[in-house]
Parts: sequence; C-alpha cells; structure tokens
Amino acid sequence: MADIVYLALLFIHIISIVVWMGATILFVSVLGPSMRRLNPASRLDLFKAMGPAYQRNITSSSTIAIAAGLILYAYITQVQSSLAPTSQGMPWILAGILLGLAAYVISMAVALRANRRLLELASQNPAGAEPPPQVQLLQRRLLLGGGISAILLVLALLSMVIGANL
Ligand code: HEM
Repeated sequence: MADIVYLALLFIHIISIVVWMGATILFVSVLGPSMRRLNPASRLDLFKAMGPAYQRNITSSSTIAIAAGLILYAYITQVQSSLAPTSQGMPWILAGILLGLAAYVISMAVALRANRRLLELASQNPAGAEPPPQVQLLQRRLLLGGGISAILLVLALLSMVIGANL
C-alpha cells in the first residue's frame, strides 16, 4: 500500500518547489528585464508594489520546500528505508540537496537581501522623485541572485528526478 506520509511530504516538497522556481524564473526572465524599460522613478514605484509579495512568496515557498525535503530525506533513510533511493540514485539525491541548499542560501543572502534594502529605499523615496544611486546596484544584485538561484534550482531538479528514478 502507498505510504501516506511519504506521499504527503513529496506532495508538499514538489508543490513548494514549483512555486519557488516559478516565481524565481518569472522574475529573472520577464519582470526583471521588463523593468529596465521603465524610468528609475517608475521602477522604484513598481518595486514598492511588487517587492513585499515577492519577498513573502520566495521566503515561504523556499523554506517549506527545503524543510519538507529534509524531513522527506530523514523519513526515507531513517524510518521507511524501503523507500530510500537505490545506491546509484543516492549520489544524485545528495547532489540535488547540495544544489538546493546553495540556491536557498543565494536566494536569501543575495536576492532577498537586495530586495529588502530596495524596499527600504523605496519607502523613504518620495513618489516620482529621482531614486538614490545605490538602487541600480541593488537591482542588479537582485537579478543576479535570482539568476544564479534559478540555474541551481534547474540543476537540483534534474539531480532529484534522476536520483529518485535510477
Ligand atoms: C535541502 C534540499 C532538498 C532535500 C533535502 C530534498 C530531498 C528530497 C528527497 C528525499 C526526495 C525523495 C527521493 C526519492 O523518493 O527517492 C526528493 C524528491 C524530489 N525533489 Fe528534492 N530535495 C531538496 C531540494 C530540491 C530542489 C531544490 C528541487 C527542485 C528544484 C527538488 C525537486 C525534487 C523532485 C522533483 C522530487 C521528486 C523526484 C521523483 O520522484 O521523480 N528537491 N527530494
């Protein structure tokens, strides 16, 4: 019979991964590049509107994805070892875990940190006024952090799927 704990954890893990990857890829491929076409003051206004939701979305989905993944890993290796990956699959799962943790650290320490600072600057800047010079650097850091974590997430996804199916 299907193991309900395994299925529930896998379900939470995959849904939160989809939300995390989806938001990251949408930002780096569509929203970020389109913002370059706006003038600096409008760009900062857009940030004010979008930044808090982006921060909440990425923080909650990535944290849930990583936590569910770690619990899942503990469950299949310590509790229900009949569900553990094969010996060929395990190195791929471990590589996926490292890539996923690296994506999480970069999301938090680079992209979301820049986003938080941008939000602070946006809230201090009067509407329509010329933004301070650090804004451009922070926007670049936000895009770069998002881009690197998107690449790491795609590699983690490939590793996880290969590892679980070998
Ligand atoms: C700390 C980070 C992570 C941990 C501890 C973790 C752990 C796990 C574990 C234990 C499994 C079950 C493997 C099996 O059934 O043999 C799994 C499956 C999966 N993980 Fe992760 N994971 C992490 C990050 C990620 C990331 C970042 C992604 C994608 C970007 C991802 C995507 C998947 C997918 C798609 C599956 C299902 C694979 C399948 O059944 O074909 N995981 N993960």
